[in-house]
Amino acid sequence: MILPIRKYPNQTLRKKAQRVEKITDSILALIDNMIETMMAADGLGLAANQVGSLKRIFVLNTSFDKKAPEPLVVINPEIIFQDEKEFIEEEGCLSFPELYLKISRPERVKIQAVDNYNRDYILDTSGILAKAVMHEIDHLNGVLFIDHIRPEEEKILQKYLKKIKPTVK
Ligand code: NI
Repeated sequence: MILPIRKYPNQTLRKKAQRVEKITDSILALIDNMIETMMAADGLGLAANQVGSLKRIFVLNTSFDKKAPEPLVVINPEIIFQDEKEFIEEEGCLSFPELYLKISRPERVKIQAVDNYNRDYILDTSGILAKAVMHEIDHLNGVLFIDHIRPEEEKILQKYLKKIKPTVK
């Protein structure tokens, strides 16, 4: 089922998601719907906050290819390594249609998480995938990519924010 994606400034986007204590049928259904919703929206990643659920879950399409998707389920992620070296690259978010900002993110990130079979795993990522991981973990903490804006792009953001109509909660 494709779920409606919450757009900024929806309140859920600013809330901290809670740990998943048990992978129940409803959690599995939520994950299936999140993958379907991410694919339909042609997104690289989607966090539960963005579909109105405050659970520490996000999904990624690790192939970056809509025709050959490789969805990855990330539950209760913990950052175990984060490179001090950063790189700047354009970033978007399904909750901010048509806004693209150049955001600085660590070059490499290692996380520990659980998959939908409740198996622990470690994900060692770099480049665009590391960027996506940091973006989605931010979502789970109520942090948005606009919070990392560099001063030189402030004008782009202000213009965008003026254009969007406030959405009803
Ligand atoms: Ni996003």
